[in-house]
Amino acid sequence: MAQEYDRLLQFLEDCKDADGDAKYEKALSGLAPQNEKSLIVDWNDLYAYDTGLATTLLNEPQTILRELVAAASQKMLMRDPAYLQEIKTVRVRIRSPPFEIPIRMIRASHIGSLIMISGVITRATVAKPLITDAMYLCLGCAELMLVPQPYPTLQPPEKCPTCQSRRLLLDPSQSKYMDVQWLTAQERPEDLPPGQMPHGVRIRVRDDLVGKVNPGDRVKITCTIEAVQTDKTNLTLDSYLEANHIEAIGTDQGGLEITPEDEEAILELAEDPWIHRRLLQSIAPSIKGLEEIKEAILYLLFRGVAKELPDVRIKGDINVLLVGDPGTGKSQLLQYTAKTAPRGILTTGRGSTAAGLTAAAVKEKGGGFILEAGALVLADRGVCCIDELDKMREEDRGAIHPAMEQQVVNIAKGGIVATLNARTAILAAANPVLGRYNPYQTIAENINLPVTLLNRFDLIFVIRDLPNPEKDAQIVEHILATHRGGGVVAPVDPGLLRKYIAYAKRINPELTEESGARLSEFYLEMRKASLEGGEASAITITARQVEGLIRLTEARARLHLREETTVEDADAAIALTQRSLEQVGVDVTTGKVDIDILYSGKPRSLQVQLQVILNVISEMSRGGAVRDEDLYEALAGKGIGRAEAAKFIGVLMRDGTIFAPTPGYYRRTS
Ligand SMILES: Nc1ncnc2c1ncn2[C@@H]1O[C@H](COP(=O)(O)OP(=O)(O)OP(=O)(O)O)[C@@H](O)[C@H]1O
Ligand SMILES: [Mg+2]
Ligand SMILES: [Zn+2]
Repeated sequence: MAQEYDRLLQFLEDCKDADGDAKYEKALSGLAPQNEKSLIVDWNDLYAYDTGLATTLLNEPQTILRELVAAASQKMLMRDPAYLQEIKTVRVRIRSPPFEIPIRMIRASHIGSLIMISGVITRATVAKPLITDAMYLCLGCAELMLVPQPYPTLQPPEKCPTCQSRRLLLDPSQSKYMDVQWLTAQERPEDLPPGQMPHGVRIRVRDDLVGKVNPGDRVKITCTIEAVQTDKTNLTLDSYLEANHIEAIGTDQGGLEITPEDEEAILELAEDPWIHRRLLQSIAPSIKGLEEIKEAILYLLFRGVAKELPDVRIKGDINVLLVGDPGTGKSQLLQYTAKTAPRGILTTGRGSTAAGLTAAAVKEKGGGFILEAGALVLADRGVCCIDELDKMREEDRGAIHPAMEQQVVNIAKGGIVATLNARTAILAAANPVLGRYNPYQTIAENINLPVTLLNRFDLIFVIRDLPNPEKDAQIVEHILATHRGGGVVAPVDPGLLRKYIAYAKRINPELTEESGARLSEFYLEMRKASLEGGEASAITITARQVEGLIRLTEARARLHLREETTVEDADAAIALTQRSLEQVGVDVTTGKVDIDILYSGKPRSLQVQLQVILNVISEMSRGGAVRDEDLYEALAGKGIGRAEAAKFIGVLMRDGTIFAPTPGYYRRTS
């Protein structure tokens, strides 16, 4: 042992960093100023120094760690005895041991050795005190004895060493404690075998590791497997992981490894003048048509550039909503996107709660609270696909609003106060209220979603299932081909596409003056058009849409791996935005794009007409009800035909502005 101790002491002295400085001496001297207790040792350094010791560390971690702690503490004693006195010992944490074990592959054979796992934290308990040394009071002779507690369950001494009495009492106030916290880690969605549920493990973290990570964080954990006997007769043991070191990994690559060969393939692909088209054709190739939606998904995957200003953070994420008739491929598109996006999550609004989407503090069996991450948090820096958004309960859906705007989730409950990141792009799908999309109604009437939620989406698309012999033939041919197995092959293989997206995120294209000018020109034109609508304008196209346009422009530049945006990028962003506005905002009466629909729920021309009718009803009824025939006649005098009048009356009846006290009579709901 002494031999290993000397060798490790030497290792701490000798190991050099890239600048030739003594790496661990430097790290040790940094502990006190930063109030840290742990020295982090890279396993590869030890391996380079002494292969044998590094291997023993993996097989007998307890022994070698004890020696390392002694060696590091000895160094601290020479350097700063006062600080050592304060922290008792220097903790030693091992980062990047070899052989990462997938969570689902952890086996009994790993018990006792040092392993590394990676995953995403889904739950965390609040910190609790753990007894490290239990103080026992002998009821026979009043002797106090401090008994170390190295095991997961409390081990009282058998009898008093002085008087042999077996009547011993635990004295909590004189026992010694350290912080302990339980975490649950799950396999990262991107590591899952297709169609598999994620496996999870329980992890115990102690001491200064407590509170280091939050639900939603992606982590690499160095740990040992501990088995506990919960019941003396049971042969199977409960097990958990005891963390030695936790490292949050926050890279944008979503856990994807990009090799130099990958990089070569990516750069070569980016040179292709048809790259945009090739990527577009690689988005959900089994779905025929829906080109503009696929383009929107493409930009959503690449996302715009997030800006960290001194006072605020402006998100770069693009949110897209698909509203459509049943069986039009929405769910398929969402599934595809969740699979392709680095850190993609697919969830359905049906049965989802606010907590399931964001995060929750839940009461544990034993009393305390645990913090549990929901879909938006798990998809941090990724894409969260929410199917059947309309099937969610109103109060649950409300939780999405702040997450979409601020991109964080705040939790303050049961002693847990946490802010979790939810920097995610959202792709959502919904059905129209009455099953099918009604073009004579506004988008807000067609889907049962509040306007405040609608205008948080950068792009909204309507998919209608209209019989169209030519298109139908194409789709059926396409589906048949897919089923025969000869379906369309994506020009860019999905694996490469994922890596391409992850790689592209390294680039933050700058918005050039020319492309910015193009966007502002479009914006001002839209503003003017909405003024020309007549009446003092209600809310019109807002700064929000400008930000959306910028994000789309940046995303398109990023897709080309360009450092700057071009006028073409801006034009494409404008064209896509226009397509979306036409689909949701087109005023069916005038045929003009009418942003008012998005915000007030009704096109302006319809609002004007409805107001005329309401005025007539008020005038004619004078507090009573008006007969329908009289009303039609009066309206005809104002140039509103019978069929049109019936439609408008229908609209007013549906929103409850008027009602029929007796059949054939109308009256205003005051
Ligand atoms: N344009 C299309 N091209 C190829 N296949 C399609 C197309 N539209 C729909 N399909 C096929 O029809 C089936 C139903 O699609 P999907 O489940 O995605 O519909 P949906 O829009 O989610 O419907 P719902 O609103 O009822 O949930 C899928 O198997 C899908 O492949
Ligand atoms: Mg569906
Ligand atoms: Zn005694």
